[in-house]
Amino acid sequence: MIYDLLNIISNSLEKSDLKGIKNDFSGFLSKIDKQKGKVFVLDNGFNSVTKEFLEGEINQMLKTQTIERIKYYIKRLQKSLTEIKNNKINDLNLNRWKEYDDIITDSLWVLNKRDKSGVHHAGYWGNFIPQIPNQLLRRYTKKGDWILDPFLGSGTTIIESQRLGRNAVGIELSKKVLDQSKKIISKEKNPLKVKLEFVNGDSASIDLKNILSSLQLKSFQFQIFHPPYWDIIKFSDNKSDLSNAKSIEEFLKGFGKVLDNCLPYLDNKRYAAVVISDKYSNGEWIPLGFNVMQEVTKRGMILKSTIVKNFEETTAKRNQKELWRYRALAGGFYVFKHEYIFIFQKK
Ligand SMILES: C[S@@+](CC[C@H](N)C(=O)[O-])C[C@H]1O[C@@H](n2cnc3c(N)ncnc32)[C@H](O)[C@@H]1O
Repeated sequence: MIYDLLNIISNSLEKSDLKGIKNDFSGFLSKIDKQKGKVFVLDNGFNSVTKEFLEGEINQMLKTQTIERIKYYIKRLQKSLTEIKNNKINDLNLNRWKEYDDIITDSLWVLNKRDKSGVHHAGYWGNFIPQIPNQLLRRYTKKGDWILDPFLGSGTTIIESQRLGRNAVGIELSKKVLDQSKKIISKEKNPLKVKLEFVNGDSASIDLKNILSSLQLKSFQFQIFHPPYWDIIKFSDNKSDLSNAKSIEEFLKGFGKVLDNCLPYLDNKRYAAVVISDKYSNGEWIPLGFNVMQEVTKRGMILKSTIVKNFEETTAKRNQKELWRYRALAGGFYVFKHEYIFIFQKK
């Protein structure tokens, strides 16, 4: 069903009687209220619009007391239904920003349920929850952009890229992990014809220029770094694996090399994200997150945000909860419940 809302809007802008205008819009509201479904197509065929959005805008109009105010709201609604306002780095229509209430803009992320849809799985120890790349890709990329994930692991970023119509290159040191991830991801449909590249190698030294030129590209539009949290999880015996660094200095040096290898291939003004947590070592809190953040800013990137995200409770953690609580009380420390997502922009 196609709705004549734009007609109502243009007619009401000619009118000068507040009551009549309100009647037209409340008539429209009751019309969509009877209609099943949540999304409507309007008479200019302009995208689609959600019932919730229309209800919100129209209810605000119906509360107004003056003709000037209602016309201001009507014009705003008209604009949001006929014009697209984009910034250059994503596909969000800022004239319809109220519709994106699932996009987080606060610096505290509490995400308790892991998205397990399709081929996403929690089986790779140390993978992040899909909502992290999903949120970041929608904020910082457009359809058709190219994403780099130099710590592919189970490929959570790549799965989200494919779903969102972003092309991606994922690099993973372990061939076994890479092959397994590639196999799993190939089971998911690719209706948007996204190009995905899986590369086995060390992100600190791999020839990215060569990888890019084989794809007829020069650069990426977004990079997401989810390195090992130093030695919290040992991913392999490979010396180049950052989880095998002998000291924090060695870990930071190794991560710095990955940055030096990747960041030159990020477009200016575009964004990068690092997902990491702090850790305890011999009873001392090691501010790994902040150390890593400084490695990035040292390289001339602007820090745009420090997001704190909760740790979901894994089954293993839940079973040990009481023990950790006792240890915390006895030892004067706090149990880790968060990790960081640092957002940077290239100058
Ligand atoms: C924290 S996990 C990434 C998990 C990933 N975000 C996911 O959701 O599955 C880090 C990954 O980096 C890999 N890795 C460690 N050092 C590396 C290096 N120098 N180059 C490339 N990959 C590396 C590890 O094998 C591991 O799979």
